[in-house]
Amino acid sequence: MTELVRVKGVAKDFVLHNQGGARLPVLARVSFAVKAGECLVLHGPSGAGKSTLLRLLYGNYKCSQGEIQILHRGRYVDIASADPREVLDVRRLTLSYVSQFLRVIPRLSAQDIVAAPLVARGVERTIAHHRAQDMLDRLNIPARLWGLAPATFSGGEQQRVNIARSFIAITPVMLLDEPTASLDAQNRDVVIALIEEARRAGSALIGIFHDEAVRERAATRRIDIHSFTAAEAA
Ligand SMILES: Nc1ncnc2c1ncn2[C@@H]1O[C@H](COP(=O)(O)OP(=O)(O)O)[C@@H](O)[C@H]1O
Ligand SMILES: [Mg+2]
Repeated sequence: MTELVRVKGVAKDFVLHNQGGARLPVLARVSFAVKAGECLVLHGPSGAGKSTLLRLLYGNYKCSQGEIQILHRGRYVDIASADPREVLDVRRLTLSYVSQFLRVIPRLSAQDIVAAPLVARGVERTIAHHRAQDMLDRLNIPARLWGLAPATFSGGEQQRVNIARSFIAITPVMLLDEPTASLDAQNRDVVIALIEEARRAGSALIGIFHDEAVRERAATRRIDIHSFTAAEAA
């Protein structure tokens, strides 16, 4: 299977400008590849740098060292050195980031928010809305909420709207930062099914899951984040 992600020698130090420029080393010598159809789970205690690694992969944080090659439009783009316009193009077609948090857009209905990624890809509005309703239904959002703006929804409902939106148009590479945190068992099962469907469609996923049972079911492979920094500690 094709490698969709190639991480080579990545390091991240945070520079704390408001604390006399102190350097906080978080990640060093991170190297791995992820193939189409895999779900790689990042393992390690709180504060180990898992979310930082996903943000580096998405281009939200700048690497201190190393390369992050993502297969985009048939060639590898190095997210660590690409210009911002190219990063946006990679995100538009190839790379998505799923967290537990919904960015609420005032007055837009749940249905519109979920349908938006399809509409942006040129899918006809009524078709996009039908698919959005199917996704909302799968995530057990009651139909009476579909036409309402999620600002007043419960935290769990907002989280499920976010997942519906994130998985309605799967991308070749998907980064998941605790998408199942605080979901009930039934909705966790739905997320695991969505991950499996994305894998079967040929996506490469990299995920962080708080819950060991979820890790067990979602992972095709695991990496302990400490394995990268262990050499330095020794
Ligand atoms: N923007 C930031 N500025 C400074 N330090 C940060 C920043 N983001 C994360 N950190 C630090 O990096 C370390 C790893 O954080 P994080 O990646 O969130 O860990 P994890 O997701 O594994 O729990 C922590 O010590 C955290 O305080
Ligand atoms: Mg985290």
